[in-house]
Amino acid sequence: MAPHMPRMVGSALLWLTLASGLLTMVPAVQPDPTTVMNKCEESCRPEEECRAVDGVWGCFCRRDLNSSDVHSLQPQLDCGATEIKVSLDRCQLGALGFGEEVSAYLQDPHCNSSMQSEPRNWMSVTSPAQAGACGNILERNETHAIYKNMLSLANDFIIRDTILNINFQCAYPLDMKVSLQTALQPIVSSLNISVGGKGEFTIRMALFQDENYTSPYEGDRVVLSVESMLYVGAILDGGDTSRFRLLMRNCYATPTDDKADPVKHFIIRNSCPNLQDPTIYVEENGVSSESRFSIQMFMFARNHDLVFLHCEVHLCDFLKEQCQPSCTRNRLRNDVTTLDPAYVLDLGPITRRGAQALGVTGGASSTTGFLLAWPVLLLPVLLAWLF
Ligand SMILES: *[C@@H]1O[C@H](CO)[C@@H](O)[C@H](O)[C@H]1NC(C)=O
Ligand SMILES: *[C@@H]1O[C@H](CO)[C@@H](O)[C@H](O)[C@H]1NC(C)=O
Ligand SMILES: *[C@@H]1O[C@H](CO)[C@@H](O)[C@H](O)[C@H]1NC(C)=O
Ligand SMILES: *[C@@H]1O[C@H](CO)[C@@H](O)[C@H](O)[C@H]1NC(C)=O
Ligand SMILES: *[C@@H]1O[C@H](CO)[C@@H](O)[C@H](O)[C@H]1NC(C)=O
Repeated sequence: MAPHMPRMVGSALLWLTLASGLLTMVPAVQPDPTTVMNKCEESCRPEEECRAVDGVWGCFCRRDLNSSDVHSLQPQLDCGATEIKVSLDRCQLGALGFGEEVSAYLQDPHCNSSMQSEPRNWMSVTSPAQAGACGNILERNETHAIYKNMLSLANDFIIRDTILNINFQCAYPLDMKVSLQTALQPIVSSLNISVGGKGEFTIRMALFQDENYTSPYEGDRVVLSVESMLYVGAILDGGDTSRFRLLMRNCYATPTDDKADPVKHFIIRNSCPNLQDPTIYVEENGVSSESRFSIQMFMFARNHDLVFLHCEVHLCDFLKEQCQPSCTRNRLRNDVTTLDPAYVLDLGPITRRGAQALGVTGGASSTTGFLLAWPVLLLPVLLAWLF
């Protein structure tokens, strides 16, 4: 697990239902007179008592705890960046009649999410924050990706039919990363970079449909009309984001999938936007673990029906380097650009819709692409008529 994994990235919701069966009461045990003296180093929770077991003092579950109300269980839910953890109070479980042999399973019973012991008499079950994993059901609305699942508890040892169901859900605000994780088939390219001694990092780059960078294009190709905007985002995934920032050094379009194609339309050059194209907007670059820019398809595609996108990225250690590019007009004079193919991510092809419509009778869609095509078609006709 990443050391800097955010502890609570999503919001949690859970509820309990008793599916079937009866809960048995824990038989009363005579209080041990030695519990009166507190010999425990830490203070025990109200559900615990300080006593000696096999000569060792510690906080153990109170033996006189008894409950028939499932709501006393109060499970805790931790919606982490990579996993969802449901924690249960072992003492409250015991009070509800679940003995040591409690078995717990998620919607997918084959998922090997066994109960883990936690400090202070808690126990937990973990499921990856992934659609389908352990029976997770993913739902999306405009602002959130929501994973739903159910934890079932059965008392394997004494009564098999004592089943308590705990429904839970974690809602993650949709951002670039979450939207890529929750999309079925995002168009994404990834690159592993190892930084000397700091481990390996994965960078992912994708094409988005919206200005919020939350709806990635899905499938195997992108078809864009010339007037539409293309949103390109890259994230540093699974690396130490507390140390590194993501910098797009050079981003360019080529008419072929060859990143070394001599025909290059630069969008970002030497970390700065190409000012000759006024539709380029660099949302962020070199300031966080994400880099984003947008560009209008028309300028980007120019004379090409197919375009491929390439970005040379750099992991910038902001303790040692100036990561945020300072882009002035003078800087653009410096046209010398050397590209290291080992750090280039590739995406494409992106097809220009107007170009496709040319061969088709009518072309149907009244896109600018179709309108732009008119002068091209008319010119030979006019020339033939003139001479
Ligand atoms: C358990 O709770 C029931 C009802 O509240 C009570 O009658 C009983 O004495 C309790 N048992 C113990 C061991 O505390
Ligand atoms: C699931 O089981 C496999 C094989 O038994 C094991 O390698 C893996 O660590 C387990 N995963 C979890 C989350 O316990
Ligand atoms: C999306 O779901 C979340 C979590 O359930 C909720 O808080 C939010 O209001 C929902 N947004 C919309 C637009 O329905
Ligand atoms: C990057 O590394 C991950 C994990 O080590 C691996 O699964 C993945 O295939 C690698 N991707 C590439 C593009 O090499
Ligand atoms: C982008 O986000 C803003 C604020 O959350 C919202 O008002 C807007 O509708 C979103 N746009 C799209 C295309 O989703």
